[in-house]
Amino acid sequence: MADPVRVLFVCLGNICRSPSAEGVFRTLVEQAGMAEQVEIDSCGTGHWHIGKSPDARAQEAAQRRGIDISGLRARQFSPEDLDRFDYVLVMDHQNLADIRDVWHQNGGTRPALFLEYGSSLQDEVPDPYYGGADGFEVVLDLIHEAGEGLLADIRGRLA
Ligand code: 4NP
Repeated sequence: MADPVRVLFVCLGNICRSPSAEGVFRTLVEQAGMAEQVEIDSCGTGHWHIGKSPDARAQEAAQRRGIDISGLRARQFSPEDLDRFDYVLVMDHQNLADIRDVWHQNGGTRPALFLEYGSSLQDEVPDPYYGGADGFEVVLDLIHEAGEGLLADIRGRLA
């Protein structure tokens, strides 16, 4: 069987947005019967939360949609990720600037804003860390929609 398509989601802490994206997108991929063809991971540009579970509010919001992200553990982005992954999808412009700096040095997969795959006018997944529970619902809505666009893109790549 051909190599899987490898997708990496990146945010700042790897405890709110990118693990949510990993969980939601994995569910979409499984529902599409493509689990064997798509590998998914997430990480953060920062080091503060390495080894931690996703934020309790992110876990609860995902669970309300039947998605279990409790088993994920935070890790930090590394330059080799740009060689390993076919898609490196970041949540906001700061993540993009940070990863782009590494990409300029390292080469490999060019990072892109995840929401480029969605149809919303918004191009950033807002950081919900310092806000209320509503912010986590917004995150899930945005990543679900962009995830469908991403899946369509991957289908095109595999076709
Ligand atoms: P994330 O959210 O980047 O979506 O995981 C954050 C998590 C932690 C912090 C900031 C954002 N923090 O400052 O610790």
